[in-house]
Amino acid sequence: MIKHDVVVIGGGLAGMRAAVEAAERGADVAIVSKMHPVRSHSGAAQGGINAALGNREDDSPLNHAFDCVKGSDYLGDQDAIEAMCEDAPRQIIWLEHRGCIFSRLPDGRIAQRPFGGAGSPRTCYSADVTGLVILHTLWEQLERFKVKVYEEYFCTALCVEDGVGSGVVAYNLRNGELELVTAKAVIFATGGLGRMYAKTTNGYASTADGLGIALRAGLPLMDMEFVQFHPTSLKENGVLLSEAARGEGAYLLNADGERFMFKYAPNKGELASRDVVSRAEWTEILEGRGVEGCVLLDLRHLGREKILERLPQIRELALDATGKDAINEPIPILPGMHYAMGGIETDKNGATRIPGVYAAGETACVSVHGANRLGGNSLLETIVFGARSARHAIDHIKSNGQVRPSEKTLKSEQDRMSEMLGRSRGERAPQIRKRMNATMSKNCFIFREKTQLQQAIDDLRETREAMKSVVVMDKSKTFNTDLVGTLETQFLIDAAQCVATGALSRTESRGAQARTDYPERDDTNWLVHSLAWYTDSAPRMDYSRKVTFTKWQPEVRSY
Ligand code: FUM
Repeated sequence: MIKHDVVVIGGGLAGMRAAVEAAERGADVAIVSKMHPVRSHSGAAQGGINAALGNREDDSPLNHAFDCVKGSDYLGDQDAIEAMCEDAPRQIIWLEHRGCIFSRLPDGRIAQRPFGGAGSPRTCYSADVTGLVILHTLWEQLERFKVKVYEEYFCTALCVEDGVGSGVVAYNLRNGELELVTAKAVIFATGGLGRMYAKTTNGYASTADGLGIALRAGLPLMDMEFVQFHPTSLKENGVLLSEAARGEGAYLLNADGERFMFKYAPNKGELASRDVVSRAEWTEILEGRGVEGCVLLDLRHLGREKILERLPQIRELALDATGKDAINEPIPILPGMHYAMGGIETDKNGATRIPGVYAAGETACVSVHGANRLGGNSLLETIVFGARSARHAIDHIKSNGQVRPSEKTLKSEQDRMSEMLGRSRGERAPQIRKRMNATMSKNCFIFREKTQLQQAIDDLRETREAMKSVVVMDKSKTFNTDLVGTLETQFLIDAAQCVATGALSRTESRGAQARTDYPERDDTNWLVHSLAWYTDSAPRMDYSRKVTFTKWQPEVRSY
């Protein structure tokens, strides 16, 4: 049996930041991750991390907080947003002091670029590879503190004893054994759910693992209907082309060569919030002003030198996928599934409803993004709430220091895996996953309406049924990716059901949820969070959690 005080599930930015915070405070902490931490999807984050650093007189943490509240379409919890924006400058300096290489202004200060929905340029960056640079900075800190990393361990279940989180069960990919990982506090930092869609900017590992585990352990998922479609993903393969391009001045063009965004967002144009820009692009395409089913991202006027200095990765990604060089040609792009605003419900300290269980990063819903996240806030969230959840986990341990080995959870997971591996006939997970991907992409996309959402719900119920007799053909013990892929598919279906059911139930348009049959925001009835609870068939929805307001009452939102 593995035993630590704090166990962090997931080795991306939120997970590593949590582990480093716990280690700096002297805790016995370990990371359990299905992959090596520096291969985490956080490394694909490109454009930057927001903080009102004080470099500009026209910015402040309070301005940052207001932009988030407005960006969230007033669904974000304002106490959590204020806490995040207040802590942001400290966290940037914390990273800086640990060697994170940020791009600089000529006078040596950290450079900041404009991002969508922001009142002033406050996105700190490392060219267009910011996530990767921070990931390596944190990895060095893990090495410094000799944090134990159980890599290629796939977490399958949360252990809860006497109502308190007591560890997890993890599948060791190297030898096929299920192992009990006992802890006094567990922090989930397992990232997103993008792989429930056919095309996404997310890596292959973004399979909703923490969400499925939390649901099945009795925790609710919050605001799952809010899925972000990033305005600029490559038409060819769905890979992200950073918002940094528009931050540096790139244009969005339709087939007439028109910068169409000013029709939709007269003040902000290409730098409106992502939900607004993605809907505008899709409208242009639907109304026949697209270019072969997409729109164009034009960087040419930025010039070779600026592109090579600030946006080298996106130039290369576009060149690889399309053969087009952004220095000379516009790039065909589409809105692409990018981020889940929803996640495991937590308070502003990362605590869930089960004492000793925390969540941070994309897998959590704190909620600082509400119905729509601003670009540059996801890296910020990982760092702020990674650290915060670790601090609170350590406080929890001080008063709840008991070890509670959960042999019964281990046994039930062993039985579940044996049953799955024991089947020799049935459908395989990749086929079932394809049906989930198809219905989510078609019926739960940027614009939504009742019939399509009901279709998605019906299709997902069918996939859940099919999973009950899924067959794993690979019976081997070593690196059984067939088994892991099957478990991931199960988690994705769990989460997808929450997205579709939440989207159908919410009869309004707010942020990223755009209902064509309910086109208006409805503050009278829907200024509430949604909570989705696990049942055997479809999630049970609950609207008992109110939005927290501190300073800002809802206003008409325009850019
Ligand atoms: O466009 C981007 O670079 C993505 C940033 C983000 O999602 O925050």
